[in-house]
Amino acid sequence: AELRAFGTKLRAWYRRNARDLPWRKTRDPYAILVSELMLQQTQVSRVLEYWQRFLRRFPTLQQLAKADERHVLEQWQGLGYYARARNLHKLSRAVVREGAAAWGDADAATAVAADGRPSPLPAEAEKLRRLPGIGAYTAGAVSTFAFERRAALVDTNVARVLARVFAPKLNPKRPRDLTLLWQISEATLPRTGKATWTHNQALMELGALVCTARVKRCGACPVTSVCRSAETARADADSRGRAR
Ligand code: ADE
Repeated sequence: AELRAFGTKLRAWYRRNARDLPWRKTRDPYAILVSELMLQQTQVSRVLEYWQRFLRRFPTLQQLAKADERHVLEQWQGLGYYARARNLHKLSRAVVREGAAAWGDADAATAVAADGRPSPLPAEAEKLRRLPGIGAYTAGAVSTFAFERRAALVDTNVARVLARVFAPKLNPKRPRDLTLLWQISEATLPRTGKATWTHNQALMELGALVCTARVKRCGACPVTSVCRSAETARADADSRGRAR
């Protein structure tokens, strides 16, 4: 019951408070993959400049595959962590050359993105993960944000939010605890893929705007009433109040 309340409040908050970010308007799996790779280790404000330019230069996975790695890295210049760009380029070549064999399927029906367009990338997180440079987070993100699949996702920010809300004793840096946080992420997903899109964007947004690494803005948080860390904060404030 608490899981349901968490999700309902979270998604209602997102609908009113989400930033207007361009990668939230597309369902192109390639464009979303590029955004998610850029957003790892890089601030939204920087990615905004690079993402649009990168896609103008390489509008499709096919066009990226044809490009020289040199030119791909040129477009990434300034973002850092160039392994992300190299892997992305490698992925594009593997997928264009081998199709479904690139993710280990003998042969597979063409996937269809949530906007109805055919996709060179698979919809399932577990298949996306078999491609170069795609970890568990990125696989979940592409599956849910492009295909509107019911897939869980945990990155540093989501791990922090879920730990604070449901399991303050967990330490996201500990691998065993991280596994538990993935299970919590699964358990909090709504029933439909469409609601999952909103849910996962909302988790990221809450971590970016309200429940940040530096501050917990519990006063502005839509899920304080079900949050175990906010309860602690309230209890602390109460006991301080009583002592005074
Ligand atoms: N960081 C990673 N993915 C993101 C997204 N979809 N929106 C905002 N920030 C993000």
